[in-house]
Amino acid sequence: MSASSTVRALMPNDIAAMKGTAKIACLTAYTTPMAKIVDQHCDLILVGDSVGMVLHGLPSTVGVTMEMMVLHGRAVMRGAGRALVVVDMPFGSYEESPAQAFRNARQLIAETGCSAVKLEGGVHMAETIAFLVKRGVPVMAHIGLTPQSVNTLGGYKVQGRGADAERLKADARAVAEAGAFSVVLEKVPASLADAITAEIAIPTVGIGASAGCDGQVLVLDDMLGLFADFKPKFVKRYATLAGTAEAAVQAYAEEVRAGAFPSAEHIFAD
Ligand code: KIV
Repeated sequence: MSASSTVRALMPNDIAAMKGTAKIACLTAYTTPMAKIVDQHCDLILVGDSVGMVLHGLPSTVGVTMEMMVLHGRAVMRGAGRALVVVDMPFGSYEESPAQAFRNARQLIAETGCSAVKLEGGVHMAETIAFLVKRGVPVMAHIGLTPQSVNTLGGYKVQGRGADAERLKADARAVAEAGAFSVVLEKVPASLADAITAEIAIPTVGIGASAGCDGQVLVLDDMLGLFADFKPKFVKRYATLAGTAEAAVQAYAEEVRAGAFPSAEHIFAD
């Protein structure tokens, strides 16, 4: 399944062992070509359910399905060699019961070849995380802003402000004790992310959290400037590829309309 059979893929325990020794570089990817690029430089590739918004035009991640995650997980595995590939469990695929979560996690791992899954939730998902881990499914947890709960959270707001900080600390402790190998902290105040990072034994991977986390993750299309619908404030753009692509498409269309597009004779004459 991997791009290079000579490179050993990182496993969840390798990522866990990076805490306190090296920062974890993580990006999302949803396709083979992008996975090949990310794999050269990152330790962890997340096949995030953000794929629903970024590639499928959905208004939130709530409508993402198991079929979508299997399809994109397989594509990413074809491009990955060294990085650990983690596939998101979509909304509705794990919340009902630990047994439901195991059935769907098994399907994601068996049908994509990935080594771990990610699911959203803290204290209330700890029992499910422990159930999965005991049965051979490595789990990355995701607390703070959990986008699948956008309808109950009332938007994509910062979590853990003021008195709410204790709730998030309890979430972090619960997922670590349940056996998650790492936890994503999304959109939480930097001082809280730093406190959680110092307290728990597993690596924290921040997104809109703190540079003090054990690693960082961004949505690839956001940092490349490819997803232009909106930009979260915490995203640093390293490129503006949507503009580059638009200019290229415009140049192409103008050449076609002007009759300047190379014909087959031109190509075969070379
Ligand atoms: O779906 C996703 O891309 C994510 C990251 C933003 C952490 O969960």
